[in-house]
Amino acid sequence: MTLKRCSKKQALTHRVSYNKIAAGRDNDRLCLLFHSAFPLAKIQNMLRVEHLTKVFPNGTVALKDVTFQVEDGEFLAVIGLSGSGKSTLLRCINRLIEPTSGKIIWNGTDVTALSQNEMRHVRRQIGFIFQQFNLVKRSSVITNVLTGRLGYVNTAQSLANLFSRADNQRALNNLERLGLREKAYVRADSLSGGQQQRVAIARALMQEPKMILADEPVASLDPVLSHTILKYLEQLNKEDGLTVLCSLHFLDLVHRYATRAIALKDGQVVFQGLPQEIDDAQFKAIYGQEAQRVSII
Ligand SMILES: Nc1ncnc2c1ncn2[C@@H]1O[C@H](COP(=O)(O)OP(=O)(O)OP(=O)(O)O)[C@@H](O)[C@H]1O
Ligand SMILES: [Mg+2]
Repeated sequence: MTLKRCSKKQALTHRVSYNKIAAGRDNDRLCLLFHSAFPLAKIQNMLRVEHLTKVFPNGTVALKDVTFQVEDGEFLAVIGLSGSGKSTLLRCINRLIEPTSGKIIWNGTDVTALSQNEMRHVRRQIGFIFQQFNLVKRSSVITNVLTGRLGYVNTAQSLANLFSRADNQRALNNLERLGLREKAYVRADSLSGGQQQRVAIARALMQEPKMILADEPVASLDPVLSHTILKYLEQLNKEDGLTVLCSLHFLDLVHRYATRAIALKDGQVVFQGLPQEIDDAQFKAIYGQEAQRVSII
C-alpha cells in the first residue's frame, strides 16, 4: 500500500497528521485515506450482516436473509417504507432484539453467539440513538448523559449512581460539543425535541463508541431541525471517524448526508449502492409505484 498518493488535502479532511500518515503509523486512518484515494481498494469491514432473518413470535417475518456490510468510517443510510424492517435490523445488530437466524460479525466476532455479559462489551462500542430520544424525563440532562457511561462502571457503582469526576467532566465536555453545556442541570423534559435528541447523542458519546446506530433520529422533529441533528452526526462521522448506520425517511437527507445506502422492502434488501444511484426506477422499486418524492431541503 503506497502512501505517497494520499494528498495533504485528504489528510486534513480526515484530521490526521500528514507526516504521521506518510510515516504509516496510523493504520485505521490510513485505511480511510487509502479508500478515498483508491475507491476499489478493500478496507476493513467493521460490521457484516449475513443472512439475517427475524421472525417475531406472532409469525411476522420482519427480516428475510439480509446480507450487507458496513465499512469503517461510512455513513450508511437504511431506507424503506414504514414496516420494511429498518428498526428491527438496527435493533438486531446490538441484540436489543434477538435475531432468529444469521450472523452479525462485529470486528471479526459473531455477536449472535455471545453471552449477555460478553455482549455488554460489544454494546459499549455501539451507541444507539432512538427516534423518541429515550431520555429519563424527570432526571437532569447531565444525569441522562452520564447513564451512557454505565457500560464502564461496575454494578455497585451504577446502583449507587456514582460517577467519577472524570466522567462528570466528560459529560460536560460532550454537552458543550452538542451546544448544551448551559442546560446540564435542567430537567430533560424541559428541553425541546431537537435539544433532547442532542442530549441523546451526548449520552451515546459517553460510551466512546466506534459506531452509532441511529433509528430515524430526526423523524420526531420539525423538518428544519433535521439538519441540525444530522450535521452533528456528520461531524462525528467526518471528524472523529465514527461509523454511522442511520435509518432515514427522506431521500433528500440520504443524498445530503449518507456516503452509501441500503434499502429494505418487506424485510429484504432491494438496493445497495450510492445515494445518487437511486434513480426514478430504483425509487419505485423501493417505495412502490404510487410513491412520490417529497423534498424537505
Ligand atoms: N415486537 C413485534 N412483534 C411482532 N411484529 C413486529 C414487532 N416489531 C415489529 N414488528 C413487525 O415487523 C415489521 C418490521 O417492523 P419495523 O418496526 O422493523 O419496521 P420499520 O421499517 O422500522 O418501520 P417504521 O418506518 O414505521 O419505523 C412490521 O411488519 C412490524 O409490524
Ligand atoms: Mg422503525
